[in-house]
Amino acid sequence: MNFSSLSHFLFFSLCLLLLLLFTLSWLQTPTPLPTSPDHLSTNPKPIRSSNLPSTPSHPLDPLTIPEITAARSILLSHPLFSSSPSHLIFHSLSLDPPDKSSVLSWSSGRPLPRRRASAVVRFKGEYHSLSIDLSTGTVSSLPNPASGYPTMTIEDMTASASAPLSDPAFNRSVIARGVRTSDLSCLPVSSGWFGREIENRRRLIKVQCYSIEGTANFYMRPIEGLTVLVDLDTKEVVEITDNGRDIPIPKSAGTDYRFEAAKGNDKGRLLHPISIEQPEGPSFQVVDGHRVKWAGWEFHLKADSRAGLVVSEATVEDPITGERRSVLYEGYASELFVPYMDPTDAWYFKTYMDAGEYGFGLQAMPLVPLNDCPRNAYYMDGIFVAADGRPYVRENMICVYESYAGDIGWRHSESPITGMEIREVRPKVTLVARMAASVANYDYIVDWEFQTDGIIRVKVGLSGILMVKGSPYTHVKQFPSKQDTYGTLLSENIIGVIHDHFITFRLDLDVDGTNNSFVKVELARQNTESGESPRRSYLKATRHVARTEKEAQIKLSLYKPHEFHVINSEKTTRVGNPVGYKVVPAGTAAALLDVNDPPQIRGAFTNNQIWVTPRHNNEVWAGGLFVYQNKGEDTLAVWSERNRPIENKDIVLWYTLGFHHIPCQEDFPVMPTVSSSFDLKPVNFFERNPILNSAPNMEKDLPVCTAAAAA
Ligand SMILES: *[C@@H]1O[C@H](CO)[C@@H](O)[C@H](O)[C@H]1NC(C)=O
Ligand SMILES: *[C@@H]1O[C@H](CO)[C@@H](O)[C@H](O)[C@H]1NC(C)=O
Repeated sequence: MNFSSLSHFLFFSLCLLLLLLFTLSWLQTPTPLPTSPDHLSTNPKPIRSSNLPSTPSHPLDPLTIPEITAARSILLSHPLFSSSPSHLIFHSLSLDPPDKSSVLSWSSGRPLPRRRASAVVRFKGEYHSLSIDLSTGTVSSLPNPASGYPTMTIEDMTASASAPLSDPAFNRSVIARGVRTSDLSCLPVSSGWFGREIENRRRLIKVQCYSIEGTANFYMRPIEGLTVLVDLDTKEVVEITDNGRDIPIPKSAGTDYRFEAAKGNDKGRLLHPISIEQPEGPSFQVVDGHRVKWAGWEFHLKADSRAGLVVSEATVEDPITGERRSVLYEGYASELFVPYMDPTDAWYFKTYMDAGEYGFGLQAMPLVPLNDCPRNAYYMDGIFVAADGRPYVRENMICVYESYAGDIGWRHSESPITGMEIREVRPKVTLVARMAASVANYDYIVDWEFQTDGIIRVKVGLSGILMVKGSPYTHVKQFPSKQDTYGTLLSENIIGVIHDHFITFRLDLDVDGTNNSFVKVELARQNTESGESPRRSYLKATRHVARTEKEAQIKLSLYKPHEFHVINSEKTTRVGNPVGYKVVPAGTAAALLDVNDPPQIRGAFTNNQIWVTPRHNNEVWAGGLFVYQNKGEDTLAVWSERNRPIENKDIVLWYTLGFHHIPCQEDFPVMPTVSSSFDLKPVNFFERNPILNSAPNMEKDLPVCTAAAAA
């Protein structure tokens, strides 16, 4: 590909452009991607105005552009760093949230609790975790975790991806495989921790490359078996592993998924245009940039560089009393874990933790209007921080919209047997807050869907492009009988490797107040006494309140069904049931690796589907504060082993949504979205069906819009 066709390609693909700026080296450009801090100050684009306010108006509002600028100045002139401020590298800078009690006691119009920023910075090879008081300029140091490194900076990813080119052996190997060095695009792959001595001394990354020749979908053209170990601090090539020289680079034909390129490939099934009409406009409001109000729900919504999308202080209006009742103090994706199931040399280390290693929010790209989100959506920006500490705006990172998919909220009609003519149906309309992260090849769509019946449905969709393995085989009949291929042959010379995705959500539920308990409602067979009934057995529900953390480590089983309630035992309904919300799993997958496998030790937060911990300000990231290359000493699994009391306390429920993925040919060259979800559902929270009084649709309220006839 020459330079002009490259520009052409970039022009057509904004999302990919941003991704490329982050993760790839484009070597055919006259100037390779600059990696100096100056470049990063404008990466991905100069600070532009955002639709977000420049002053915070809620205690949980993210840092504003002026606050980030102030925090940066405080650190640059701080005695720790002022000797050489240009060596200060920002791995993260975000709101250090005020105490929960001060957030809960705050009310609109009152002064905000003291604003603090928390920063993780690197200075001359040392890492510092700091809290900065933005009103006084005071900086306090916090202890670093026992192992691991903070989330990579974009500069780490960009510079490490181009590092292999400094090595003549790398260039020779690429050329020997028939790939021009100008056709390379390389990805930085977090290298995990496997107990090698070098892993204790250096911050490392593995770089693998693809050929971009003839396709935008370079992921389908791996240079298999060529792995370059790079020191992330010095960008030195530490080691090159060069196996698989005999494996051909898969062909480019049929790999491009873009509309212009793909539309000639088959007949297609084009539908008529579709859109949802809201003749009176949407029913939701977004106040002061972050507070969303809709159909009795109110919540705070923001972008976060690590967690992606954060929902806070979700409350719902009681339809009978009109009282505002708390449901969820805070909810977000705390960590992702994506282990690939191939133990061979070029693959064993692929065990990504996308939030703590890459930044789930940093990888979220602008949403595409009318396609990612429908008409009438509201778009919210994210404000993040580059490696030099300067803020930048990730435009349209979150959208909020009302969804109507033709579903039914509730219904009942009477049959002729009763002689009654009853046809009562209510349409189901929901409110969705959405983001989509493109962590290199994979795309994750995260939806928080608020329903009028009190349900919060958290949904994760997986799309994007598979991480594939180059293979000598062009047909399954060539597969050797004894040797494992670790996946499915998707096309000639391309194997889609089996892998899992786990997304662990941290859910600080506050059901009608902060003091809550976790109750396992066991549904089990009860045998009748002989002669008691013509029936021999029935199912009986028994409640078990979990007193300590270990009683709340849950592995799901169809043959040991339970409901999982978070209740407020001090509040009951009119008839005496404790008010509660239950977490309702849908399709999910469990981690099946050996618990002592090094990746699974680091990913031990996926050993159970549910955990409940007492709320603690330092227990936020399920894989630990510093996830990169850590040894797994600071995970949710470790915290939970302390077996602390959790009854009638401010508790946090952790739910892991899992997917096993055995790739299939339909996943090539881009995957149709696969989704799953879980619900937070009221259980004896309301006195009765909370949407009894919702209105049916009427013909008069829904004018039919027709295309104007040509005049
Ligand atoms: C490897 O190839 C790249 C791109 O052609 C070139 O810029 C670089 O200098 C080469 N590296 C070495 C060590 O020869
Ligand atoms: C929560 O429960 C504790 C006792 O476990 C009690 O001291 C505290 O006042 C309660 N808090 C609230 C907000 O009810």
